[in-house]
Amino acid sequence: MFFRKKSANEDEIIQLLRGLRHPASNRALGEMGLVEGAVLKNGEARFIIALDRDSQNDAAALRNLTEKAVRKLPGVKNARAIFTANAQGAPPGKPPGEFRAAGLGEIIAVLSGKGGVGKSTVAANLACALSQSGLRVGLLDADIYGPSVPRLFGLHGKPKTENNKLTPLEKHGVKVMSIGFIVEEDAPVIWRGPMVQKALRQMIEEVNWGTLDALVADMPPGTGDVQLSLMQSTPLSGAVVVSTPQELALTDARKAVAMLRRLNKPVLGIIENMSGFVCPHCGEKSDIFGAGGAREEARRGGDDYLGDIPLTPVLRETSDAGTPLVVAQPHHAAAQAFRDFAARVWLKLAARRKQ
Ligand SMILES: Nc1ncnc2c1ncn2[C@@H]1O[C@H](COP(=O)(O)OP(=O)(O)OP(=O)(O)O)[C@@H](O)[C@H]1O
Ligand SMILES: [Mg+2]
Repeated sequence: MFFRKKSANEDEIIQLLRGLRHPASNRALGEMGLVEGAVLKNGEARFIIALDRDSQNDAAALRNLTEKAVRKLPGVKNARAIFTANAQGAPPGKPPGEFRAAGLGEIIAVLSGKGGVGKSTVAANLACALSQSGLRVGLLDADIYGPSVPRLFGLHGKPKTENNKLTPLEKHGVKVMSIGFIVEEDAPVIWRGPMVQKALRQMIEEVNWGTLDALVADMPPGTGDVQLSLMQSTPLSGAVVVSTPQELALTDARKAVAMLRRLNKPVLGIIENMSGFVCPHCGEKSDIFGAGGAREEARRGGDDYLGDIPLTPVLRETSDAGTPLVVAQPHHAAAQAFRDFAARVWLKLAARRKQ
């Protein structure tokens, strides 16, 4: 005689789960209010366990316990626990506004008051120079209004998704993420305050950055929502302020420095870009926009001066061709200037870590 045992139903799965004892506290999961629902379809059981604040570290043990028990029920071929963070909210130790940034290393923002002074160029070469010196480096294109990192790195693919996280694209030894990989390049992007916060959070938390020594963030120009969000919601190690030698750009650079001070974030120093022009034909240097203004400004504010990068046509050419200068022409004088600058930034961060 064939005897077929009745298959378990969803209520029975829930009852079983509620009776299981939490591996850490030994209390019943039902009593702790952690069982949130179950579905059973074609022998596949899925059930939801809320992870409360105290259970975050017990997820693996909870999975093992619950899946094993449910699989033993008649009619269940496979069982899978789905975890949710429950109403008690954020993971332990993080205030709600703060992004999860563990493992990202030193987060370095590249800022300027004014647009077009070379932030993206500096950020790209800084990331590559740090990577060339053996560090694990990420480059976050935080310019969500006008991303230029895809062009600077010659990257146009779409990032893959793995375990609900985006895999950053990788080139020149740097992991790169940009909104430009996701949004069409020419699409107008209009972001309001809360959306900015959300976009930035996703680019930090929902990207598989792995373990980094440094994450360089290329910022949009000015001192707006994105800058505020990065400074308030991440453990920013500090910022590099880019300025050209002109008085106008310096006035704006001062605003960027003032913002950092107000939010109590370290100013790593000021770098002068487009500092003088070295004629590619005769090698003679002429100071088209003046030179030395940023050094003077840094001295006045008591900030470090991180070096100068001359106006170099080949810098624009290599940028447009998708290979930052320090990779394309490592022996070029401007590439050396970028490496010196990167070394100063890294030494400064190392000194801060020791404090
Ligand atoms: N030292 C330099 N010599 C020659 N060209 C440069 C130099 N620095 C930057 N450029 C060029 O100037 C333009 C603006 O640079 P970049 O995009 O890096 O500025 P940005 O500050 O990021 O601009 P935005 O504010 O629009 O984000 C680019 O075409 C870049 O190649
Ligand atoms: Mg830029």
